[in-house]
Amino acid sequence: MGMNIAIDGPAGAGKSTIAKRIAKELSFIYVDTGAMYRAMAYFFLQNHTDQADFGTACQDADITIKYENGEQVVYLNGENVNGVIRTEAVGNMASVSSANPQVRAKLVELQQKLAANADVVMDGRDIGTCVLPDAPVKVYLTASSKERARRRYEELSAKGVACDLAQIEADIIDRDHRDMTREISPLKQAEDAVLIDSSHMTIEEVTEAIIHLYKDVR
Ligand code: DC
Repeated sequence: MGMNIAIDGPAGAGKSTIAKRIAKELSFIYVDTGAMYRAMAYFFLQNHTDQADFGTACQDADITIKYENGEQVVYLNGENVNGVIRTEAVGNMASVSSANPQVRAKLVELQQKLAANADVVMDGRDIGTCVLPDAPVKVYLTASSKERARRRYEELSAKGVACDLAQIEADIIDRDHRDMTREISPLKQAEDAVLIDSSHMTIEEVTEAIIHLYKDVR
């Protein structure tokens, strides 16, 4: 097992931005587990899979991870799906289909394999509680739903995507609720995780705080 850093938290808390920076600074590999659940959700959407069939259908989705030019690339049955899994529709479906036990078992196995042979910064919802329970550094990164919605709104507006702030916040609250109340591996702070509320912190401040935690245990 590598010197792993586990970062969990709700949608839009800044996990991937921060995790990428930490990985770069420490020369760790960044593992974005949400992208794997998104690839699986994309597979279900493409095939119009019924929710009752997620458990059996997920066995036909071969999800693999490669690193190309330092970026994580997710392959679904041999196809690079990085460009199609970032939509709100796929994110919302991922929040629903990730509650399925077979989907989780399949992806957790892949995640644990990735962490077994390298130093990784892994982000998701259940990394500290379930995927890497022995990670020496665990962080629960959160921010108010208002602030998370505001960040998402800015991000979409900068890309020229028309969006509604109140709708974004409502979606975030819905997604949090689903992720936190599902039966298997719900999103929650691990007992030994450090809570960081980034509502009033810059990206640099959060990155530094986590690197500091890592240096303390190293
Ligand atoms: O982090 P994200 O928005 O890309 O994740 C999409 C969904 O996938 C999220 O709403 C819940 C699910 N997910 C999960 O259940 N467990 C993880 N480790 C990562 C994501």
